[in-house]
Amino acid sequence: MEKKNILTGIRPTGRLHLGHYFGATRNWVKLQDEYNTYIEIADVQALTDNFDNPEKVRKSVRDLAIDLLAVGIDPEKSTLFIQSMIPEIAELTIFYSNLVTIARLERNPTVKTEIQQKKELFGDKGEGITYGFLGYPVSQAADITAFDGELVPVGEDQLPLIEQCREIVRKFNNIYGETLKEPDAYLSENKRIKGLDGNDKMGKSLGNAIYLCDDEETIRKKIMGAVTDPNKIKKDDPANPDVCMVYYYHKLIKNDNIETVCKECKKGARGCVQCKKELIEKMQEFLRPVSERIKYYEDNPELVDKILIEGTSRAKKTAEETMKKVRKAINIDYFEEK
Ligand code: TRP
Repeated sequence: MEKKNILTGIRPTGRLHLGHYFGATRNWVKLQDEYNTYIEIADVQALTDNFDNPEKVRKSVRDLAIDLLAVGIDPEKSTLFIQSMIPEIAELTIFYSNLVTIARLERNPTVKTEIQQKKELFGDKGEGITYGFLGYPVSQAADITAFDGELVPVGEDQLPLIEQCREIVRKFNNIYGETLKEPDAYLSENKRIKGLDGNDKMGKSLGNAIYLCDDEETIRKKIMGAVTDPNKIKKDDPANPDVCMVYYYHKLIKNDNIETVCKECKKGARGCVQCKKELIEKMQEFLRPVSERIKYYEDNPELVDKILIEGTSRAKKTAEETMKKVRKAINIDYFEEK
């Protein structure tokens, strides 16, 4: 049986943290064995928000590739590529943009939330919403369909974007004839990872993340500052592990001693400092193989470049095939034999 195509993407705007790892990339590493996997470094999409900071995007493309390779994305199994180097994606975006109303884009819940966040952040100082930003769901539909993506592994916040893509595909097929595949979202089991501060989401802008590339001393400092049960004042007070981030991370990285941690915490037989020290060691151990691989790729930048160039060239071939079909469907395949 032919393998199905999976397409997923990630914006190059910084390094990967544990939220990305447990919420997304760990899952991609498993999926690459079963599916034809395309992983897009979405620099064009990153520029919709960072058009005035191209240096950040440029640097993040390589950093992101290194982090992805370090967690186990295997270039033999997955096609890792750079979005802006596939002009067919931009071409598709133009044709799809006729199939979406502005009102529909403004109603998209993900876009709506992001517009709200921008307003809160910039207020009247903001320049307003750009055409490119409002249209990024259209461009994301192009990302997916260019590679015949049937399954799209994403977090929960991305579901409205997949729905938007499905609508575009249906409309396209209705008008121009059955050409594109309607994708399904593929949700990962850990949808959202909490931050060290107890915030519901680990995020770069929230400053509550452990990065895969953090060195051991940074990991130590961050964990020492993690939020524990605020009602526990003294070392031998009993506490509630369910509100403690240290316990949360013990669980996340599957400390095999987890039951003891829980029991002792509840009884007041375990101080937070001891508990944090244990987590620090386990976390450093957990991240050591990843950081060793990060170092390996950082020391071999020409290897990373080669992987990206080869992946992008493979991806381009697939997108070219799609573009041919699309041109034919829209009847703009001029000078081709009919
Ligand atoms: N919008 C996604 C994010 O912010 C990144 C992305 C770009 C993507 N293109 C994609 C995800 C295609 C899935 C499919 O995380």
